[in-house]
Amino acid sequence: MENEENSTSSEAPDTDTYIQRLMVFNTLREPTLRSAIQALQLPSGSRGLDAGCGIGSHTLLLAEAVGPAGHVTGLDLSPEFLVYAKEIVEKAGLSEQISFQEGDVNKLPFDNDTFDWVLSVDCVGYAPLESLPLVKELARVVKPGGSVAIIAWSSEKLLPGYPLLEAHLNATFSGIAPFTEGKSPELHLLRALGWFRDAGLEEPTVRTFAGDAYAPLTDDLRSALIALFQMRWPGVESELTQEDWAEYRRLCLPESPDFILSHPDYYAFFTYSMFHGKVARGYGSRTHPISPLLRRIGQHLLLLFCMSV
Ligand SMILES: C[S@@+](CC[C@H](N)C(=O)[O-])C[C@H]1O[C@@H](n2cnc3c(N)ncnc32)[C@H](O)[C@@H]1O
Repeated sequence: MENEENSTSSEAPDTDTYIQRLMVFNTLREPTLRSAIQALQLPSGSRGLDAGCGIGSHTLLLAEAVGPAGHVTGLDLSPEFLVYAKEIVEKAGLSEQISFQEGDVNKLPFDNDTFDWVLSVDCVGYAPLESLPLVKELARVVKPGGSVAIIAWSSEKLLPGYPLLEAHLNATFSGIAPFTEGKSPELHLLRALGWFRDAGLEEPTVRTFAGDAYAPLTDDLRSALIALFQMRWPGVESELTQEDWAEYRRLCLPESPDFILSHPDYYAFFTYSMFHGKVARGYGSRTHPISPLLRRIGQHLLLLFCMSV
């Protein structure tokens, strides 16, 4: 693994580096994702889709939730991520319960009503993907009565004592990019209840789950937070004032004597918000590509019947 402690780069990483950061970062978020997944109460033995599964770290949690009689399909656009995902699943001895497929969440390579549930973690809900058509597409592949859920990172406080610097970092392009592209407020992740309602899902709900970390940090949590700083605020130098950049380097780089993660009172928290809705009976028939054809056949039969009387 890359030596995170010595990494001072704030530039966009290559795929391997990004994957390593995701793996290390997982230590921080796993307990929170586990709580959110438990709250979904996925039926034991059910079959589900993890849309935008990445390296599959939470796909394991989903397989755990549905038990040995269940099955999870992990789908992602990136073949590189799927290579890691398959390795992780093999190592965990869960290859029978989890399979992976390359594909696009905009056009899922599955028939209507294939799964009992579908979940997307940190994928659907963020720009540049357009959310309402995506929620409809997720719902299309779920059986009536099944569920659609989006879990997404929704906030954090990582620099205790430095709220202004943190606000400035979060106002940079990379700080703000996961949540908005300067488009209409309806496209913001925290408006997802509206997407679920407009997609025709029943009983839309949202719950927020918090995770935290505080000193003294274990080595794993320290590495996870370093990875998070690097993923959250890459390439921010050109958007900060000189003073903020100097402060960022003083507080956020591991080699600095004032590195904030070494502070004896360090405390951070973050939240994941989970949006959930149920697929109505007959949902598939509204979006099923065969339905216009069936309608036309019905119209012809009706015409024949009328002509024969
Ligand atoms: C921030 S990562 C999250 C990955 C994983 N869900 C996690 O939480 O660790 C976003 C993931 O979405 C995938 N992705 C982005 N656009 C996609 C698309 N159109 N179809 C499928 N996957 C996509 C990326 O390849 C990446 O793995």
